[in-house]
Amino acid sequence: MSEQITARGRRVLVLGTGGTIAGRAASSGDNIGYVAGQVGVAELLAGIGAPAGVELEAEQVAQVDSKDMEFSIWLALARRCAQALAEPGVAGVVVTHGTDTLEETAFFLQQVLPGDKPVVLTCAMRPASALSPDGPQNVRDSIAVAASPDARGVTVVCAGAVHSAVDVQKVHTYRLDAFASGDAGPLAFVEEGELRQARPWPQAGTGVHAFLQWPHDLDPPRVEILFSHAGARGTLIDALLAERTQGAPGGIRGLVLAATGNGTLHHEIERAAARAQAAGVRVIRATRCPQGRILPKPGDPIPDAGALNPVKARVALMLELMGASAA
Ligand code: SIN
Repeated sequence: MSEQITARGRRVLVLGTGGTIAGRAASSGDNIGYVAGQVGVAELLAGIGAPAGVELEAEQVAQVDSKDMEFSIWLALARRCAQALAEPGVAGVVVTHGTDTLEETAFFLQQVLPGDKPVVLTCAMRPASALSPDGPQNVRDSIAVAASPDARGVTVVCAGAVHSAVDVQKVHTYRLDAFASGDAGPLAFVEEGELRQARPWPQAGTGVHAFLQWPHDLDPPRVEILFSHAGARGTLIDALLAERTQGAPGGIRGLVLAATGNGTLHHEIERAAARAQAAGVRVIRATRCPQGRILPKPGDPIPDAGALNPVKARVALMLELMGASAA
């Protein structure tokens, strides 16, 4: 369902996946009581002028509230991006997406795509039906990044800032400027269609995961995230292990422990995690802190995810397990 919007020079493909940016509310004054994923991506592009010499194309890959994001959509998105980026006439790809799991999709794409051309995810905190929606400016800024000959890798554009897929995190429930890159800060800013770069674009990745060969309906390995917190117990881990032992389909293969501070765990979680490791489950620790990274200590029994937050650590572990099973 490809829709040609204009035909002038370098191409930017805009892929729609839903989200608030495509949301509609009953009244223009309602910024929260909307239904996400209602407006088609071609309609989102109407009225957004392409930069001079840039040709826009729109395609709808999915139409979901991103809280319901699924691996099958990631796979479809990655495939379409890879296919488009391989075309010499394509400068880059823009993906419209909900804010809620944006960082997970961005990180997944960053892990699987080669990264020599830009893939820019964008979003909105107000629905398309709002009195003053933020989506159109975000899309316009994203097109400027995707069309830039210097840009590369997977990035997120929101409220005038360009974030790298590795560092970006949603940090606010309501503010239009809802994303931050922690200590690293944004890669660049978009000002009236011009890019002001703050730090180098991400290195092109290797795209090592042979996702193009994966079946469309592939069930990824099950990786759960569990929090360590005051009063934590190991019972949930043990329940997952019991399910795995009984041979239930989709049993746990990996476990991300959302750890306190510099990767510490409640002793009850630590003991249950050791049981999980002994049962063959791959366990890693990711910090609950929104900033900083886990600084490893010699002899740590459970490996850490460095600066990755728990949801990105889950993606990384899932891909690692898939790499291991493909070998
Ligand atoms: C979503 O993530 O799809 C809904 C919320 C949003 O986009 O802000």
